[in-house]
Amino acid sequence: MTGDLLLLASVICLLQVACGCPEKCHCHAASNSVDCRQQGLDAVPPDLPPQTLTLHLQDNQIHRLPASAFTSVPQLTTLNLRNNSLSDLVPGVFDGLQHLQVLNLTQNSLRSLESRLFQPLPELRELDLSSNHLSHLPTPLGEPWQNLTVFAVQQNRLQQLNRGLLEAMPSVRLLFLKDNLWNCNCQLLSLKLWLEKFIYKGGIVDSVICASPDAWKGEDLLKIPHELYQPCPLPSADLESSQRGGLGSARPAVPRPPENHGAGDRDHAQCEPKPKPRPANLRHAVATVIITGVVCGVVCLMMVVAAIYGCTYAAVTAQWHGRHTAQTSEPEKTEGKDLCDSSAA
Ligand SMILES: *[C@@H]1O[C@H](CO)[C@@H](O)[C@H](O)[C@H]1NC(C)=O
Ligand SMILES: *[C@@H]1O[C@H](CO)[C@@H](O)[C@H](O)[C@H]1NC(C)=O
Ligand SMILES: *[C@@H]1O[C@H](CO)[C@@H](O)[C@H](O)[C@H]1NC(C)=O
Repeated sequence: MTGDLLLLASVICLLQVACGCPEKCHCHAASNSVDCRQQGLDAVPPDLPPQTLTLHLQDNQIHRLPASAFTSVPQLTTLNLRNNSLSDLVPGVFDGLQHLQVLNLTQNSLRSLESRLFQPLPELRELDLSSNHLSHLPTPLGEPWQNLTVFAVQQNRLQQLNRGLLEAMPSVRLLFLKDNLWNCNCQLLSLKLWLEKFIYKGGIVDSVICASPDAWKGEDLLKIPHELYQPCPLPSADLESSQRGGLGSARPAVPRPPENHGAGDRDHAQCEPKPKPRPANLRHAVATVIITGVVCGVVCLMMVVAAIYGCTYAAVTAQWHGRHTAQTSEPEKTEGKDLCDSSAA
């Protein structure tokens, strides 16, 4: 009897969890949407109905999401996290959301994003990262997104945007890029070229207003004449990294100083002779010096030896003479000494 009651109780419990609605949220069974907006939440509520398609979490104070935060709602197609307090997103946070189509992260405090953060979202159509503090976007942000049509990063702190990132969105039609800190140096030329083609094919972009260098502050990137732009010289390290993972993955590799747009200056920079080390020549010179030194030394040594030998011989001869002749041979002796002195000198 007690066992039966327990079973009944747990079945009711399970049903409640499956069909229930989290406290503080409103659930609309017909549309499978769960609305938890403006409830002062600081975390994703537990026990969300697993068949949820749309989840409204906007206008709360969620500051942290654990990895796999949404695996309990694998059918989710729309996730709205607008106006929360997220400052970073851990890898794997969107795991299991294979059907997600719309992700709204606008009005948070995101500073940077992990590379491949959005990889688990192959069906994404709209990604809104606007009004955050992003200063850089990693190049592989997700798989090539066949269905991504809207990409918004306006009102951030971006200075550069990697063309490789845009090329991973072959279907993108709407781009929101304005209100960033675009640095219109030679590195932004590839973005300019990409955008021109994008607009030509019918894409829509709001605007890319340069924040630097000073000469182009306030100018629209798309209106700067081509003649004033020249591609950045590619150092070999840059080439390597661009082959590895797209152009801009060379984040810290070559942060070139903002380029002067005077054509003369740029030409000068490009024609600057690179001081190349010449180890072969250096070795050659060193060898020459060593050989010369050795030869000179040997010659000098031989001369010194010859001189000493000559002197000794002369002295011995003179002494021998001196012993066997009379004192009259004195001048001969001095003659020998003179010879010795002069040869030594
Ligand atoms: C953001 O959410 C807070 C509540 O957390 C709300 O008071 C505020 O009006 C919201 N701001 C906007 C711009 O919607
Ligand atoms: C995200 O939310 C903002 C504010 O409500 C809205 O303007 C924007 O269109 C939304 N983005 C997407 C991709 O739905
Ligand atoms: C893109 O959308 C189409 C049609 O809605 C869908 O059939 C296809 O699976 C989607 N592609 C990806 C990669 O999700």
